Amino acid sequence: MSSTPESTPLLRELVRTKPVEQSIADTQEPEHALRRSLSALDLTVFGVGVIIGTGIFVLTGTAAKNHAGPAVALSFAAAGIVCGLAALCYAELASTVPVAGSAYIFAYSTIGELPAWIIGWDLILELALGAAVVAVGWSGYVQSLLESGGITLPHAISGSTTGGWSFNLLATALVLLLTGVIVLGMKISAEVTRVIVAIKVTVVLVVIVAGLFFIKSDNYSPFIPPAQTVEGKSGGQSPMVQALFGYTPTDFGVMGIFTAAAVVFFAFIGFDVVATAAEETRNPQRDVPRGILGSLLICTVLYMAVSLVVTGMQKYTELSSDAPLSDAFKAVGQHVFADIINVGAVAGLTSVTMILLLGQSRVFFAMSRDGLLPRTFSTVHPRFGTPAKAVLMLGLVVAVLAGLIPLEELSELVNIGTLFAFIVVSIGVIVLRRTRPDLPRSFRCPGVPVLPVLSVLASLWLMLNLPVDTWLRFVIWMVIGMVVFFLYGRGHSRLGLAARSQAPAGPDGPR
Ligand code: ALA
Repeated sequence: MSSTPESTPLLRELVRTKPVEQSIADTQEPEHALRRSLSALDLTVFGVGVIIGTGIFVLTGTAAKNHAGPAVALSFAAAGIVCGLAALCYAELASTVPVAGSAYIFAYSTIGELPAWIIGWDLILELALGAAVVAVGWSGYVQSLLESGGITLPHAISGSTTGGWSFNLLATALVLLLTGVIVLGMKISAEVTRVIVAIKVTVVLVVIVAGLFFIKSDNYSPFIPPAQTVEGKSGGQSPMVQALFGYTPTDFGVMGIFTAAAVVFFAFIGFDVVATAAEETRNPQRDVPRGILGSLLICTVLYMAVSLVVTGMQKYTELSSDAPLSDAFKAVGQHVFADIINVGAVAGLTSVTMILLLGQSRVFFAMSRDGLLPRTFSTVHPRFGTPAKAVLMLGLVVAVLAGLIPLEELSELVNIGTLFAFIVVSIGVIVLRRTRPDLPRSFRCPGVPVLPVLSVLASLWLMLNLPVDTWLRFVIWMVIGMVVFFLYGRGHSRLGLAARSQAPAGPDGPR
């Protein structure tokens, strides 16, 4: 870390790592210290708050109907296992480096400054875009509830993509409102989340329990429908695995379960955001692993149960793609339950949006504290104890994005960004075990290095199932990030500045 530009080549400068002790010391600087108020329960609630959302309320239908049939429950299990492998790696690093910033700070401590920047830039994309996409989905649900009450928004502010461009007023308003809540403090954010999570978990349990009474065993037959070779997609829409190796993913059959797993993966996104709250947790070494693993486990069980019930209520070929849970109840004549589910979906998407916004501001905060982004964004508000400037700036950007741009096509970028972070974190566990075996780890991932390697391979497989266009957009975002790093981050890195100030003066003096 103390290497200097004079004594080391550029490459070594770019992979210098930030000592874990320094990361922890940074959290105690008065101006940049976040307030510690969260418990293991708060973190688990946060996890459930951000995980359960569009995935289960919307994607279950498409995944069952187009790719897996009733075996979609197994797709949820498969995606849950991929996330579980990554979650064990996140849990170990979060217990070793309990600092805001999640995968960004893990990469900084293990692989180096440039990889940390890359992953931080990637997380900004994942979380900002994720928040905007979910806010737009929320607006759709609210409008459909309003419509069932006879209220239709004027086209100009509905965000509708048909009939000419229009502004999505509700999505923008939601993001601005939640930004305000996040500025006010972590404790109030946790309280809001707790109420919302109670509503949405109740609704999910209602689906499971009430739905049991309408299951027809015929609907499960065949449980794994016979495999169908799908028409290979062409151009940018074809999955990367097809473009590279000519392998065409199959629908239905055993392989269809995995195709559907790549679709429902979105439903699990968010457990990694729990790690961004490490610095605001009272006992992070113990509680962050509990929060990450606990929320993931709860959601996997709920997802499997919901998908089993819904595919038992309605033949998978007839499930709706927009609102499969409420429509399954409508199909059996239970309209009251359908309305209850729609209210649950609105509540559910609110907390997903809020926690994605929150996680994003914490990653931005950590990058700014390290000097890779302007330092002003890591000043903590004296009264609220939150990085208010970062929250407000990012909130405005996401609000504009959500209001102006039709985002459905971009949602797969969220998946690729998350999977990339999984890969870096899994590699980070192996690296830190070698470079710093001495560090206290209150949670140890089992089976290192086999389990992290499996996590890398599983994440890579899901990434390869994403379309070529998504890869291209991802690469463009990363290239922009590299430009920003070389124009700003590299010159302002606090680690770099410290190394330069210790450097012996060369012919031109210290750099
Ligand atoms: N997992 C979150 C959702 O399904 C992002 O909405």
